[in-house]
Amino acid sequence: MPASFQLVARTGHPDFLDLPWDEPLEEWTSTRIVSLIRGISRHVVRFVEYDGVLYALKELPERPARREWTLLRRLEGHGLPVVEAVGLVTGRAADLDAILITRHLEYSLPYRTLFAGAAIPDLRTHLLNALVELLARLHLRGFFWGDCSLSNALFRRDAGALAAYLVDAETGELHGALSKGQRAYDLEIAQMNIVGELLDVDAEVGLPPDLDPDETGAEIGRRYATLWDELMREEIFRADERYRVDERLERLNQLGFDVEEIQLEATPGGYRLRLDPHVVEPGHHRHRLLRLTGLDAQENQARRMLNDLARFREALERTQKRALPESVVAARWRDEVFEPTVSAVPEELWAALPAAEVFHQVLEHRWFLSEQAAKDVGIDEAVRSYVRSELPTRRPERIVLEDPGEN
Ligand SMILES: Nc1ncnc2c1ncn2[C@@H]1O[C@H](COP(=O)(O)OP(=O)(O)OP(=O)(O)O)[C@@H](O)[C@H]1O
Ligand SMILES: [Mg+2]
Repeated sequence: MPASFQLVARTGHPDFLDLPWDEPLEEWTSTRIVSLIRGISRHVVRFVEYDGVLYALKELPERPARREWTLLRRLEGHGLPVVEAVGLVTGRAADLDAILITRHLEYSLPYRTLFAGAAIPDLRTHLLNALVELLARLHLRGFFWGDCSLSNALFRRDAGALAAYLVDAETGELHGALSKGQRAYDLEIAQMNIVGELLDVDAEVGLPPDLDPDETGAEIGRRYATLWDELMREEIFRADERYRVDERLERLNQLGFDVEEIQLEATPGGYRLRLDPHVVEPGHHRHRLLRLTGLDAQENQARRMLNDLARFREALERTQKRALPESVVAARWRDEVFEPTVSAVPEELWAALPAAEVFHQVLEHRWFLSEQAAKDVGIDEAVRSYVRSELPTRRPERIVLEDPGEN
């Protein structure tokens, strides 16, 4: 007997019951369907809209669909950057495959958009860093991806850099921890996939001159090794070298990682510092910003905002001639700097970028204006100038629609 129709959906989202579940996804003509740019995929993937919120639907056999549902939920639970699994539909009429529903990642740029039109300076560096960081973060939590590629990741702007998110977990395995061999194998797959994809992009739209596919592929391995070594290498300290432990922790903070606990083991040569991958927590700046201001941003955006906050504090303390508590300064910075800047952006321009990214760009713009004027330009003037001259020239990126001429 065929299994009966079942829809599991997380609360806080629509129930999706109005969709034509007993037809193959490819044939749907629902008015909710929206065509977005997406990566290459074996399965049918389409997007639907409910009250301005978009969801991705992927049709695939029940077993892998369940696996992916579980994995995405678990990775999200570990605080990793993955798309949010929202629903799972099984037991559809006429033996149709299952459908996995994920929330569309707003302001995400599929990699084809990165190369055609998104105008990202130094794309090679940012792409490499984003992917390598994503892989390292997944590996710290014991996740073997098994199919890391440009198509299986999504990219978001992050204060001039990029942040990568995992979108396809179908081939993944969650272990307690990964061996060196497993990590190396995952990198090998990533490298192979990405070289192939870059060659395709080159043939389709051309690559920036500094982005050679083979060389970039090899660079992934090198950068990953450097980052992993920074995060996990063991070091020996003498008893009078405690400051080196602090230096190491400071360096990890700068890289955006928090360390919850350290293990120091006495050896004949001194103390051995060892870090357990599970206590190395990404999001150092992000967590600090959230704690201080209640604002959620991506890592580099948060770093940028914290720098601005520090600058604000310094100026405030100078005029008031006394030290002020960090929490008080943070609340004032939010009220007097961040909120006014962001709310100076007219509503119709919001499609272009999320708030934290707009703020970052206004700071960049202020720097540029100050350089030109050879004196400090205030944030008010910078935001007015930015809204007038820069923002209108940007393509909307909240949702990247497919060119009707494609496919
Ligand atoms: N939640 C989402 N938000 C934004 N884009 C998405 C989302 N889910 C899927 N996509 C887009 O759809 C594309 C295909 O999705 P996915 O990689 O999961 O399909 P697949 O058929 O399993 O791929 P593969 O061939 O690698 O197995 C992605 O590259 C991405 O561009
Ligand atoms: Mg895929």
